Amino acid sequence: MRIAITTGGGDAPGLNAVIRAAVLTAIDRGWHVLGVKKGYAGLLGDDEVIPLTRDEVRGIGHLGGTILRTTNRGNPFSYPVRQPDGSVLEVDRSDELLENARNLGINALISIGGDGSLAIAQKLAQKGLRVVCVPKTIDNDVSGTLSTFGFDTAVNTAMEAIDKLHTTAESHDRVIIMEVMGRHAGFIALHSGVAGAAHVILIPEIPYDLARVCEAIVTREKRGRFFDVVVAAEGAFPKGGIESVMGGSLPGQATRIGGIAERLSGQIQEKTGKECRSLVLGHLQRGGMPTGYDRLLATRFGGAAVQAVEDAKWGHMVALQSPNIVTIPIEDALRAPKKVDLGHDLMRTARRLGISFGD
Ligand code: F6P
Repeated sequence: MRIAITTGGGDAPGLNAVIRAAVLTAIDRGWHVLGVKKGYAGLLGDDEVIPLTRDEVRGIGHLGGTILRTTNRGNPFSYPVRQPDGSVLEVDRSDELLENARNLGINALISIGGDGSLAIAQKLAQKGLRVVCVPKTIDNDVSGTLSTFGFDTAVNTAMEAIDKLHTTAESHDRVIIMEVMGRHAGFIALHSGVAGAAHVILIPEIPYDLARVCEAIVTREKRGRFFDVVVAAEGAFPKGGIESVMGGSLPGQATRIGGIAERLSGQIQEKTGKECRSLVLGHLQRGGMPTGYDRLLATRFGGAAVQAVEDAKWGHMVALQSPNIVTIPIEDALRAPKKVDLGHDLMRTARRLGISFGD
């Protein structure tokens, strides 16, 4: 048996722990393992395919990033190919990928990635590639799994940042607005905000009313609390409005979500007269060593992915459905992105603690 492993999309702490667990579990069965570098680039001749032995995965379980490297611009069905005139054309290279996989004697592929990678894997499975997936995202927005590795690390990073903002905000009687990642889901904002005792948490699942946000700040002031920490998910947006985006000014450059903290800082300062500062926590949330929780989840996922290959669960994804690791069809995970459940006890508890969601 010869299997290959690839990591795609944005990185997340715990990827190396999945690779390590999958390689060691496969070697334990007497299988051979290959690593496809930089998403699918290695299988398309644009990067390498390397043997993954015990040596290659020695001492990597605690490291952030991915030894295989990754990309969010490597979809083999619309693969960017630079033309002689410098322009970039998107070409379907999926047939080439399948042929190269066959030529390398790859019997099955373990694809580790988020929703984009899951969608690609599903299409490759439909074309006959024997593939199983491991869900990955710091955003925690993949359906069918209670959590994804990387999320807990990101929450801890954001929580520590909130802890630090408290003291400086309090010293200066300021409102500090911190923007966290999460795309269209508010999990990182909610979990880090509650754990770090933020005063206002804004998430995409609850369009906010600026007047209510300011009211929460003014009410605290009346109680003698002169500072506030506001955690805003990058995808949060006002009632009747749209999310903030940035970039897109250069030719061929796509816009990306971002800018909510800066926007709110100006608006809150104008409406409350309080001095405001903003920061974007950004890619710090994706870096660093995975927490113990993420290492364990990643390790369980890696082992379960090899078991899924043995069980011929093609087109399936491993998932945490506590207390078990199960496999579910990729299409189930892709049906709709996971969002914060507004009826969850964490939401109710947060409200009872006096945290404002701007509604
Ligand atoms: O999906 C993970 C994520 O970190 C999002 O939270 C964020 O919006 C996006 O990726 C950032 O992507 P990039 O690294 O391409 O800027």
